[in-house]
Amino acid sequence: MSKKDKFKYKYVGNSIPRIDARSKVTGRTDFIKDMQFPNLLHAKMVLSPHPHAHIQNLDVSKVKRSSGVVCVLTGSDVPHENQVGLIIKDQPLFADKKVRYAGDAVAIIAAETEEEAKSAESKIQIDLKPIRTLYSAEKSFNSKRTLIHPGGNVLSHLKIRRGNHANPLKSAAVTVEASLKTPHQEHAYLETLGTVVVPHKDGSVTVYGSIQCPYYVQRSVSEVLGIKFNKVKIVQAATGGAFGGKEDVPSEICSRVALVAVVTGRPVRLIMSRAEDAIYSSKRHPFEMRYKIGAKKNGKLVGVIAEQYAAAGAYATLSPVVMFRAVIHAAGPYVIQNVKVDTYACYTNHPPSGAFRGFGAPQSAFGIERTMDLLADELGMDPIELRERNILRAGDRTVTNQLLSQSVGLPETLKLVKESSLIKNKKRKKQTGRYVEGVGTACMHYGNTLGAMGWYLDAAGAHVQVHRDGSISVAVGITELGQGSGTTLVQMAADAFGVKTERIRVLEVDTSYVPDSGPTVASRSTIMSGNAILNAAEQLRPSLSKAAGRLLKIAPSKVIFKNDRAYNASGKGKSLTFEAVAENAFINNEKLAAAGWWVAPYSQWDIKTGMGSTYFAYSFATHAVKVRVDTLTGKTKVLEVVAAHDVGKAINPEGVRAQSEGGIVQGIGYALYEDLQFKDGKLMNPYFSTYILPYPEETPKITTLIVEEIGPDGPYGAKSMGEPPIIPIGAAVVSAVSNALGVQFREMPLTPERILRGIGVLKNG
Ligand code: MOS
Repeated sequence: MSKKDKFKYKYVGNSIPRIDARSKVTGRTDFIKDMQFPNLLHAKMVLSPHPHAHIQNLDVSKVKRSSGVVCVLTGSDVPHENQVGLIIKDQPLFADKKVRYAGDAVAIIAAETEEEAKSAESKIQIDLKPIRTLYSAEKSFNSKRTLIHPGGNVLSHLKIRRGNHANPLKSAAVTVEASLKTPHQEHAYLETLGTVVVPHKDGSVTVYGSIQCPYYVQRSVSEVLGIKFNKVKIVQAATGGAFGGKEDVPSEICSRVALVAVVTGRPVRLIMSRAEDAIYSSKRHPFEMRYKIGAKKNGKLVGVIAEQYAAAGAYATLSPVVMFRAVIHAAGPYVIQNVKVDTYACYTNHPPSGAFRGFGAPQSAFGIERTMDLLADELGMDPIELRERNILRAGDRTVTNQLLSQSVGLPETLKLVKESSLIKNKKRKKQTGRYVEGVGTACMHYGNTLGAMGWYLDAAGAHVQVHRDGSISVAVGITELGQGSGTTLVQMAADAFGVKTERIRVLEVDTSYVPDSGPTVASRSTIMSGNAILNAAEQLRPSLSKAAGRLLKIAPSKVIFKNDRAYNASGKGKSLTFEAVAENAFINNEKLAAAGWWVAPYSQWDIKTGMGSTYFAYSFATHAVKVRVDTLTGKTKVLEVVAAHDVGKAINPEGVRAQSEGGIVQGIGYALYEDLQFKDGKLMNPYFSTYILPYPEETPKITTLIVEEIGPDGPYGAKSMGEPPIIPIGAAVVSAVSNALGVQFREMPLTPERILRGIGVLKNG
């Protein structure tokens, strides 16, 4: 019997309300800023004003004498390791020789009040000798003279070589070529980065933080303080959004604050202002791309060549793994025999580019999907029809030669979109007048969880305890960031025990309860924690069945749990409350707590050719977008989106729709409005008044259609849904604008200026 058949689903598949909704909307949830600590110090980081310079002198003596200041630390004060970095140790905790972006941390100040920390900041004296700067990835790639790091500017080069990769377009009847660009994107989580570190007398520390990845923070703090992991306890505070922006960035911040806490012996808090957060923290990688694609006359793809240059910013941070996702997804969800992809990450003098919902896949989707539209034009074929002829279906191989034997819901998503009224009613005539409308489509696939490059940490735990009163505590290592994973855990746990959801309490994430469960990234929450909870529940079933069997006077194997009670599977006799079972198990000394553990199925790839089974499962989606463009002002309004998503089993359909809507709105911002402006390396628009996000008025009607191609390894058949909605939407919006105006755009964001230039109203330059 498979895992899926074992349980009656009472909650899985139903849209139960969010468990955290009430406390969040009533303001009762405590975020870092709401948490009270006695004797608290307030910390502030000093950020470099210059994007690339040698530090000739750093003098903090005036800061130290400033009113209320208790502690100032720079690179020379770090007792153990001043070089940090999750994958490549290229980042000083405090820049001491060189600064590499305007926002690089050079010092930390702690004072009795926030105001005193702030006023001390301006008293720092830094003498900088500027160095030539690099902002474009391609320019950095080609630069021989200016090196941002001594090892060279290219920090990662990944590739795919398949079939006739020397000449992939050889047998093509039609080819097209495109240069494409995608921008930075700011995470714009509502709660800025923040932490409190409490030092203890035994030399241990407790770190509270608005964080995605407690185990990353634990490792970093341990290395920087030079103390063992078991003396570093990380407790995730309620976290007001993250989107990748709190994946690795909190590690450095918490480590700096932990140093201050240990040096002063007092709890220390650091909460960034919106502007500091925007200036300092990571962004989505901007990509410069060149695609060439070739097809037969009938539209069948023959080959693709893609070059992607990603601007990594000042430090490597997560770039090598973002590039892994970018390269694997670069050629889209299509069957293509001849493939040559080269993906480079190059250092630039901007904030480090890092994790952001989609993790390289939205950029790749923009590259391949826009190129597919150009090819459709060239072939005189409907873009949906071109996709229909090439999409992955069950039994096909991906461009890395991975056989997808099942759970490929892409054809169904494309079919649903094609049959939607948005596509069926689309205008075919050329439009005139001030306002023009257009429709665009894009597809995507998304490899679930960490994939071959991250397989070594793709496991997760759950500590599950049944109490004698029949209540159940669930602790996991994967965090709730606002995505709603806490609610899906309650549903999955309740169905695993056959009890009502009211019995389940999900505890705050604390590294001292649950072993390292890897990072909360890669849309892995439901799959990883869900499977770990199922594993723990299986371990506890014998205790519960024995107790129920004893009370019902039947063999334990005859007991079933459902509807919050224990029954004789034969249907005969009486039934028991879950409380009675738990109490009986307890007084018979049965084991009632278990450490669940789940390891992702093995994935592997060959770094020389890019061939391999890169992810154990894929989610799929097709989006269609309708826009209206004002040809006088260049402003675009998205009128409607239809989004069909293959998510495997939808544990909470309303949660799936919420992810879809959130990702789509975030992607509309990416495609049309969000435009980080740097001048000489300095961020000019670090506020939401000038960095324009989509507001409710810009939110279109969104219809989410759920396709459930069961994922054989997911809990109850679930697959990933956190990141997928933002992956195709940018390409689909730009496709719709291009369709409206009859001009193929190749760059985001499509600001009014760029649109007016595209249609020749504004001149270039
Ligand atoms: Mo996420 S962008 O994989 O932190």
